[in-house]
Amino acid sequence: MSETDSLGAALGLRGFADIRGEFPGLVTAGGAPWHYLDTAATAQKPQAVIDASVRAMGADYATVHRGVYARSADMTLAFEAARRRVAQFIGGRENEIVFTRGATEAINLVAQSWGGAHLNPGDRILLSTLEHHSNIVPWQLLRDRMGIEIDVCPLTPDGLIDLEAAERMLTSRHRLVAFAHVSNVLGSMLHVEQAAALAHAVGAKLLVDGCQAVPRLPVDVAAMGCDFYVFSAHKLYGPTGIGALWARAEILEAMPPWQGGGAMIDRVTFERTTYAPPPARFEAGTPAIVEAIGLAAAIDFVESIGIDAITAHEMALTAQARAELRRLNSVTLFGPEQSSGIVSFALDGVHPHDLGTILDEEGVAIRAGHHCAQPLMDHLGVPATARASFGIYSDESDIAALLRGIERTKRIFG
Ligand SMILES: Cc1ncc(COP(=O)(O)O)c(C=O)c1O
Repeated sequence: MSETDSLGAALGLRGFADIRGEFPGLVTAGGAPWHYLDTAATAQKPQAVIDASVRAMGADYATVHRGVYARSADMTLAFEAARRRVAQFIGGRENEIVFTRGATEAINLVAQSWGGAHLNPGDRILLSTLEHHSNIVPWQLLRDRMGIEIDVCPLTPDGLIDLEAAERMLTSRHRLVAFAHVSNVLGSMLHVEQAAALAHAVGAKLLVDGCQAVPRLPVDVAAMGCDFYVFSAHKLYGPTGIGALWARAEILEAMPPWQGGGAMIDRVTFERTTYAPPPARFEAGTPAIVEAIGLAAAIDFVESIGIDAITAHEMALTAQARAELRRLNSVTLFGPEQSSGIVSFALDGVHPHDLGTILDEEGVAIRAGHHCAQPLMDHLGVPATARASFGIYSDESDIAALLRGIERTKRIFG
């Protein structure tokens, strides 16, 4: 039994030992084990999530919030229970959870609704060098529309957002700081409490992009002191097409709608429309019903293992992968030693795409590219990196397969 399995046993939770078998996606078309090291892009789905989604799309299916018949009332209860589940999981309240299509849409929602209503020309926002494009481009669209300014916080030499630099850069003109909780390229972890204190000291709000953190770290939005938190379900072992924005109730109250349609209104006439309170105000149209049920099942699944055990499991695999890759000598590692579930690297003389293609022949799936973080690639001085990222189901056999594949690639490239 591994350390994290015994931790799980002590907590009365399941261990990691047999978990792979619960993920039907973790085999190749030929039935061999598939070494899936691209969980940071999207996580494989456990059978429990697939079953819950199939039930919601089949025997339980009906619309929500509208039907007068019992099936619809039941589905409405299940849909709203999913919202409560998300709130409990990240430490918010249910009226503070807005379902979105994912993290990208959640950030666009904040930029367009909160930004459009509360920012003025000349106001500044602070991003960082390591942000995913989805935490850059929505702010550039807003800048072009509203005449705000974007500043970029540099990184420390080992690839953390440099909060000392952030403190020096922040001024009373800054209205928002928007940082990733965990970098999707480097695995570096943000000290959210400290970032919140810095933002609040100048009167700015803090938005945290939690896409890579929610599947890997305990998240308590209230305790961390941020103002907005976003994530996508598909990285948390749930379905695509759904994610969430959390924002403190009083902030959501003061935000105007950003899309119009059914479900987000109070009363509509051709002269004037009034809007529902949050979160409905931000959920125009028929929502992602099946996906919300799937997301709740994913949270149940994660909690049956325990997020602390998952953190320990992935941190241990990351440390092992870094140590073994370093031993190869021909590998450059990016990011800090203490990183969460994600390792980016370069193999001397081999383009990451070539490495990814050869690894694929070996039944190993990594990501090769710019990872939707081109400014970070510019900072690292590379067009692309190879990235291995771990999940609940990853184990030492994945690292061994990765190393075998790298050795073969080295032989091929001489
Ligand atoms: C750090 C980070 N932010 C945002 C996103 C965007 O997530 P989505 O494409 O699910 O909206 C990703 C996805 O890779 C990510 O890793």
